[in-house]
Amino acid sequence: MSTPPTDWHCLGPVDELKRIELQEVQVAGAPVALSYRQGKFGAVGGKCLHAGGPLGRGRLDGDRIVCPWHGWGVNRCTGLTESGKAGVPVYTFKEEDGKLWIRATPEQPGRPVSHEPHPLARDVRREPGPIRVVGISTTAMDPESPRYSTSEALLEEALRHAAAQGCETRLIKLNELKFKHCEGYYSKSAGACTWPCTLTQMDDEDNLEPVYEAFVHWADVSLIATPIRRGAASSLYFKMTERMNCIQNQVTIGDQVLIRNKVAAFIITGGQDNVQGVAGHLLNFFSELGFLFPQFPYVAHSRGWSAEDMENNVKQVQESGSLHEGARELADRAVAKARTLLENSGECKPRVGRGGRKAGGRWV
Ligand code: FES
Repeated sequence: MSTPPTDWHCLGPVDELKRIELQEVQVAGAPVALSYRQGKFGAVGGKCLHAGGPLGRGRLDGDRIVCPWHGWGVNRCTGLTESGKAGVPVYTFKEEDGKLWIRATPEQPGRPVSHEPHPLARDVRREPGPIRVVGISTTAMDPESPRYSTSEALLEEALRHAAAQGCETRLIKLNELKFKHCEGYYSKSAGACTWPCTLTQMDDEDNLEPVYEAFVHWADVSLIATPIRRGAASSLYFKMTERMNCIQNQVTIGDQVLIRNKVAAFIITGGQDNVQGVAGHLLNFFSELGFLFPQFPYVAHSRGWSAEDMENNVKQVQESGSLHEGARELADRAVAKARTLLENSGECKPRVGRGGRKAGGRWV
């Protein structure tokens, strides 16, 4: 059967199209990555097989088109990925009277990537069982010569207490994980920020998966502990939260709320002041993700601006019964809040967690 004339589209003068190594053209409403190199045109589907990135707006590395979003590559003429098992559609084109024509129906359809979805991509569904509490310690220190961390010590106290009440607990120390900084894919395009995070999917050396797993899938309660550094939360805290953009962005770009019926609470300690400034940031960020908070959602300690005798700061926290009691009661309130949320949601009937009560201890 001959090709209907309407299936062919004129892209313009060949001489002009040759001047641009790689460009995106629209053919019957579909983006096509048109390339010209070493005297030869190539025309392949313009949507990256990874997450739909605009291949025609990427760059050429030899005959490989490098996607501008996360760097996957396809051959500019065959449309195949490096593995040769998947590929984008390949288009037929012809030159006539100095013009380049392309056929809207691909000569070769695309072959999707076939791999198992990442485990984090599974549906978010609470599995039955007791209330689950994850503690995230964000303090940074030399693992070869560890020191006493006041925020981590209070977090461990809270977790011990939650475990004694029958909760399942996990402690994650960011200091022990190797993970990359967020590379800001969202700034290229909203759709370039994926769930699960592209870095987690593409880089086997990136180790933030346990944190995502706990926040999104496993934990009912997240207790986040941070020191105060120059009046702000720790650098590891910020490194982690930047990588959590992918959780928040699912709300805005994917209409997918990953955090439901989950509770966050905080432990903030430092030799310097600005407890409320740090708490303000934590409360704001975690509320944007969808977390809810117990009454009095943080316990904190600081001896103030002029207290430079740090060894006494450590001693005071170590010996402070009220701070340790405060950490235990924070866990109680967070667990009670989680239990109420889960019971009201009808998702399950968690078995443990005593009722929240106002702290008798010191809540600074
Ligand atoms: S590499 Fe192309 S969309 Fe991710």
